[in-house]
Amino acid sequence: MEKLAIIGGTGLTSINTLEITQREVMHTPYGEPSGPLTHGKMCGREVVFLARHGTGHTIPPHMVNYRANLWALKELGVEKILAVAAVGGIREDMPPGKIVIPDQIIDYTYGRDHTLFESDLTHVTHIDFTEPYCNEMRGLIIEACQSSGIDFTDNGTYGATQGPRLETAAEIDKMERDGCHLVGMTGMPEASIAREFELCYATCAVVANWAAGRSEGPITMEEIDRHLSSGMERVAAILHHLTPYCYPT
Ligand code: HPA
Repeated sequence: MEKLAIIGGTGLTSINTLEITQREVMHTPYGEPSGPLTHGKMCGREVVFLARHGTGHTIPPHMVNYRANLWALKELGVEKILAVAAVGGIREDMPPGKIVIPDQIIDYTYGRDHTLFESDLTHVTHIDFTEPYCNEMRGLIIEACQSSGIDFTDNGTYGATQGPRLETAAEIDKMERDGCHLVGMTGMPEASIAREFELCYATCAVVANWAAGRSEGPITMEEIDRHLSSGMERVAAILHHLTPYCYPT
């Protein structure tokens, strides 16, 4: 069985159904990961959990050490990664609370350490990123959504913004013209570094709010928290149905 890791985003700093066996502090050639790596068992199978923003949710999206996080998971023998991410909904069928399994990415981030291939190279490396998410992992998440009976969308283009501020309405209009359906701040360079490490990585996005300018008034943290807590209950159901890791055992 390939070892699975779950990277938890805003709203998912721990997993109730994970029977924790050990917490491991790791140091990497890229510096410190977001926090200790939590080893545990989900339905009897080994799973590693990492809270992307740190255990106390103190690391903002542009300060996450994506290279260290993925190096640590690779070092632990992880092969598949399910990344949970809070997003804003742009497309009409992606209202707050909706679960989306995106299939494409547009990257608007800047100034982040975004590659493993920049020094001590024997040759220049260009990874293929035509399909940025691992279809095998996407398929497992989609099947789990189907068998848990939740309302979800199995495609969408994730626009990764720099943050930590939210976007302007005009930026969201531009992103929509570009073809983005969702907006979040952590999807990149997490997905591309995972590909550089040859890890099978896919995202389960939870819509926390309508993106800027897509609803009346400002976006509040209260609104985001409310939708995330119900969204995370759906994520827990998805994890519970994640064949072959959990259901049927
Ligand atoms: N924009 C960017 N990132 C987000 C949003 C948003 O509206 N909601 C949750 N993460």
